[in-house]
Amino acid sequence: MAPRAAYAAPSILSADFADIASAIGRIETAGADWVHLDVMDGHFVPNLTFGPKMVADIRSRTALPLDTHLMVSHPESMAEEFIRAGSDYLTFHIEACTHAHRLVEQIVACGAKPGVSIVPSTPETAIAEIVDIVFQVLVMTVNPGFGGQKLIPACVEKVRRLDALRSERGLDFLIAVDGGINESTAALVREAGADVLVSGSAFFASDHPDREIDMLKGTLRG
Ligand code: DX5
Ligand code: ZN
Repeated sequence: MAPRAAYAAPSILSADFADIASAIGRIETAGADWVHLDVMDGHFVPNLTFGPKMVADIRSRTALPLDTHLMVSHPESMAEEFIRAGSDYLTFHIEACTHAHRLVEQIVACGAKPGVSIVPSTPETAIAEIVDIVFQVLVMTVNPGFGGQKLIPACVEKVRRLDALRSERGLDFLIAVDGGINESTAALVREAGADVLVSGSAFFASDHPDREIDMLKGTLRG
């Protein structure tokens, strides 16, 4: 039996911010599954991107699921606003939130699917008490803040352990990977158990975005 295809989620972080409409067009035409939106606050990570208005403007341009990745301190204070703006999935960092269980409930109550993310230095055990109530676990495979970095190999082993934990406990959350995903790392992370592959720089640098999506999903032929 052929392994099922992964979901491909291009990140607009590597797009031209002065021409986001074209970036969304490129993502749709290429056949991507989700649009990944990286929100950075200059505090939790040393970079700044955009707020809910960008999410709302993108919402009006596409029917693809909007997968918002909050790299912010105090995510509980802005979760609702990003969901009202049109995020289908909302992921926060466990390192930024003391009452993660409460925040997951808050995200669900606002009508979005909750995700929790861990940076490379955080073990998967840090989220063991909430993996049964989230839609996805986003394993950062680089230190968050910037596109174009190299994948940290130890994070692939973390994906493998998380996949084992998921099987042992009979859970069905998705495992997403984010950072340094390209032609030389995509198969590795899929083999380790990743279901969702986020890609910023590799996707936007490619001359063949449709092939890039097939490569991420693991469905590339020929
Ligand atoms: C990094 C972001 C990523 C980023 C990935 O902090 O969370 O989503 O866009 O970029 P690449 O694919 O270039 O590593
Ligand atoms: Zn991201």
